[in-house]
Amino acid sequence: SVLEMEVEQINKGNYEHYMQKEIHEQPESLTTTMRGRLIRGGSCKAKTVLLGGLKDHLKTIRRSRRIVFVGCGTSYNAALAARPILEELSGVPVTMEIASDLVDRQGPIYREDTAVFVSQSGETADTLLAFEYALENGALCVGITNTVGSAIARHTHCGVHINAGAEIGVASTKAYTSQIVVMAMLALAIGGDAISSQARREAIIDGLFDLPNRVREVLKLDHEMKDLAKLLMAEQSLLVFGRGYNYATALEGALKVKEVALMHSEGMLAGEMKHGPLALVDENLPIIVIATRDTCFSKQQSVIQQLHARKGRLIVMCSKGDAASVSPGESCRVIEVPQVEDCLQPVVNIVPLQLLAYHLTVLKGYNVDQPRNLAKSVTTQ
Ligand code: G6P
Repeated sequence: SVLEMEVEQINKGNYEHYMQKEIHEQPESLTTTMRGRLIRGGSCKAKTVLLGGLKDHLKTIRRSRRIVFVGCGTSYNAALAARPILEELSGVPVTMEIASDLVDRQGPIYREDTAVFVSQSGETADTLLAFEYALENGALCVGITNTVGSAIARHTHCGVHINAGAEIGVASTKAYTSQIVVMAMLALAIGGDAISSQARREAIIDGLFDLPNRVREVLKLDHEMKDLAKLLMAEQSLLVFGRGYNYATALEGALKVKEVALMHSEGMLAGEMKHGPLALVDENLPIIVIATRDTCFSKQQSVIQQLHARKGRLIVMCSKGDAASVSPGESCRVIEVPQVEDCLQPVVNIVPLQLLAYHLTVLKGYNVDQPRNLAKSVTTQ
């Protein structure tokens, strides 16, 4: 009806689509996610994190033998992005489970495990089944959702709301970045206050405070990403290579392109390049390589060299000021992003790829908010 259309236009504000609005409101959604949870200065001198919904269970989580992340789609990718920092700060092994696969295998889950269920909607059928399974097996069950009152939020032992605000676009964007931030805060909370890691923890907290501004900065690449989309819109396929903190960025960037632009796209672990994917490389297939600064930087530089030697058609994402040190030649396109604390870099790096997927879709004339065959929340098996 005309009324419904008008209400929709009001909800979208100055944007044409929900996905576009949700990408651009990430500086605000991230701020809301962190509000009241990061403490710096004031009466308590140390910088700390306060997650109210977890405080009675932190000791148990710290003592657990293993932390198991469980999710589907984008929520799984967000957990994957947070895994390295959780392992670093907690010292507890973290394993990853796609919800349906855990149930298919009836994989071992023990009383000494903490199982963390990540779900924007809190209602995904596969995630709920995995949760019931973990509950029966006696694990401590933690929920990370964006939906107060959802099944996961109500039935888990404890949890954290991401407070990103309602997400309407089927392809998740702002929920992804808020989920990563919540799990980084979870890592800080579980990590405790060992002197040995104090400087690292404070750097991450400062990085979190600064993150909305860095995301505001990276959103300025909108036009550049639209130009790149014009260049790529007729392609059959796109590869995205990442590793370390940004393995998840590769998977999530490729998922966005596949979901909304209906273009074949694969995210790949750069460390596996030589074990198969290299056979695909030629002068036609576009390849995005994520090579922002962190401990994997020199390895990614060598990946770029090897792809270039095989005439790969490269698009490199690097930290500001690094264009010359990553680009192997004139033909290579570079996306420069602001550098942040390494474990938070996935939050910045996904934004240009969200923009790319958005523009590819609009240019191709597809429905960006409701891609064919997909649903926002898959509540049936
Ligand atoms: C569907 C959506 C995805 C989402 C996934 C998990 O496939 O289309 O965008 O990532 O479900 O949803 P959840 O609500 O559990 O995060």
